[in-house]
Amino acid sequence: MSGTTQPATLYPVPAEFASQARIGSRAAYDELVASAQADYPGYWAKHARDLLTWHKPFTKSLDESQAPFFKWFEDGELNASYNCLDRHVEAGLGDKVAIIFESDDGIVTKVTYKELLGRVSRLANALKTQGVQKGDRVVLYLPMSVDGVIAMQACARIGATHSVVFGGFSAQSLRDRIEDAGAVLVITADEQKRGGKNLPLKAIVDEAIALGGCDSVKQVLVVRRTGGSIPFVEGRDAWLEDVCAKESDVCAPEWVSAEHPLFLLYTSGSTGKPKGVQHSTGGYLLHATLTTQWTFDLRPDDVFWCTADIGWVTGHTYVTYGPLSCGGTQVVFEGVPTYPDAARFWRMIEAHKVSIFYTAPTAIRALIKAAETNADVHPRQFNLTSLRLLGTVGEPINPAAWEWYHREIGAGKCPIVDTFWQTETGGHMITPLPGAHALTPGSCTLPFPGIDAAVVDETGKEVPWGQGGVLVVRKPWPSMIRTIWNDPERFKKSYYPADYNGKYYLAGDGAIRDAETGYFTITGRIDDVLNVSGHRMGTMEIESALVSHPLVAEAAVVGRPDDLTGEAICAFVVLKRSRPTGDEAKQLATVLRNHVGTEIGPIAKPKDIRFGDNLPKTRSGKIMRRLLRVIAKGDAVTQDTSTLENPAILDQLAQSN
Ligand code: WT7
Repeated sequence: MSGTTQPATLYPVPAEFASQARIGSRAAYDELVASAQADYPGYWAKHARDLLTWHKPFTKSLDESQAPFFKWFEDGELNASYNCLDRHVEAGLGDKVAIIFESDDGIVTKVTYKELLGRVSRLANALKTQGVQKGDRVVLYLPMSVDGVIAMQACARIGATHSVVFGGFSAQSLRDRIEDAGAVLVITADEQKRGGKNLPLKAIVDEAIALGGCDSVKQVLVVRRTGGSIPFVEGRDAWLEDVCAKESDVCAPEWVSAEHPLFLLYTSGSTGKPKGVQHSTGGYLLHATLTTQWTFDLRPDDVFWCTADIGWVTGHTYVTYGPLSCGGTQVVFEGVPTYPDAARFWRMIEAHKVSIFYTAPTAIRALIKAAETNADVHPRQFNLTSLRLLGTVGEPINPAAWEWYHREIGAGKCPIVDTFWQTETGGHMITPLPGAHALTPGSCTLPFPGIDAAVVDETGKEVPWGQGGVLVVRKPWPSMIRTIWNDPERFKKSYYPADYNGKYYLAGDGAIRDAETGYFTITGRIDDVLNVSGHRMGTMEIESALVSHPLVAEAAVVGRPDDLTGEAICAFVVLKRSRPTGDEAKQLATVLRNHVGTEIGPIAKPKDIRFGDNLPKTRSGKIMRRLLRVIAKGDAVTQDTSTLENPAILDQLAQSN
């Protein structure tokens, strides 16, 4: 990490945007930051009272007595589903469209707040009939759908804790999550439709449960999506529509403490198995609501579209909770950006008059590439004038892609919010407020008001602007992770390690602040976590998947830069037999790639697999991943290799591509 002293181009806030924005100037932003500094618990308490509807008001904002297990608004009671649905219907917005759903094959369905409330209530009642109780975990393995949003909201309504598993994860991954969460019920669909293909879901649930360890599951409810014929296990499985048909569409919300776990979401760490990130109800919903209002400046007449799947945290905060809590209208899309062609997003923005669009840099890069080679899918073919604000999330955006997004999609007039956050943070942490911050391509600008982010050295001391360091958050915040499910020790070790002061939340990313503006740029993970197409993957998880194959003796996984996916997965493998070469190496690479697909899911399949007689190791047997990163990139090793047990292996691995 080196210092950038040259300030990059600043795009000023468009005057028209600023004049209408909730936070309409840098001075207004600074004032909020100052007010949070002056009275931190008071600042958050004020917003929690203003933005959320409480059944029982809280008397205390922040409880630090069991730090780092912080608690917010704990004696207050509320219900997330009530805040997302009932309160809007009660305010006369029942007929407002909550969701514009577009299916993979282009069928559009609109759902009003009143309808959504009725469907959520029916399912909530059905869950109660099935015996699901407050605090029980329910796993959702569903396509991107209205039913997915309904299932999450229905859990919230009865105080059950949902854990959504992305529909692209394998049976093994699903099994691990069901077991760790101790889920009593699974909601899935017969199949999902993506990019014109029907893909199984229920069959994978059956397979996951058959793998064992899922005895906690008493019931599987199945959404009918494609109507494909699927076998049912007698007494365990039922069609969701059948059980809902028997229920009333009125269900009183279960009032829960603000600290009640709203959901678990599994994410990759640098070691071992995925961690179940536990989020609260009150603090989480507060930040989902506040960031939707300030970062996205969501208005009653906006059409908001976040393209993330509900299987990821972005789909939780900016599909299921944030926009609904604000009473907004949003697009929910089942499919993929490249089907039937790479103009799908632009066509949908035009058709639904989307005004706020939020997507991932990987999608933008792929669509740029497509537009460059095929004029028919170029965004200029479409009327995108409804757009007023753009956003990105999940990985660093390269300035060239930023400029294209700004120019071609935003017509040079829409601000872009490059939002940095994590599964653990619940919502935006460092992000422009579009009416307040001039923009620099590639920078997420400044912390959201109330978030005390800083760049520090190993001792926790802040480094000067212009110098790289480690990103930390010095104060707790309402939507932060509460613990790792079943593993509070791992929570402490991962996020509040003794180095970096022990009192700071460690994000796991490096960052640098611009010498002049103080703007933050994220420089990437500092741990063994990869970011491939905005999806987070632990190198250890992929290594364990590889070594679980009977042919594999040892494996080391590293990332290398990739123009399209940000990072690509590169695996170095030692077999139990002699090193394969030529066609045999190619065949075995395919076998291993598919094995990783079966163990984790297609998104974890390594792009490169290289075979060696051994891996570069120190004399004490430690694999030198630093050198493997250099080789994976295709660079020559210039580092000192004198501590290596077997320096000759480097040449072999470099040539094995
Ligand atoms: C990691 C978190 C938060 C929703 C999606 C990902 C990287 C996220 C940005 C950004 C640079 C970013 C970080 C972070 N990341 N947003 N705007 N600029 N990097 O959530 O799976 O928990 O991954 O994604 O490395 O630590 P996640």
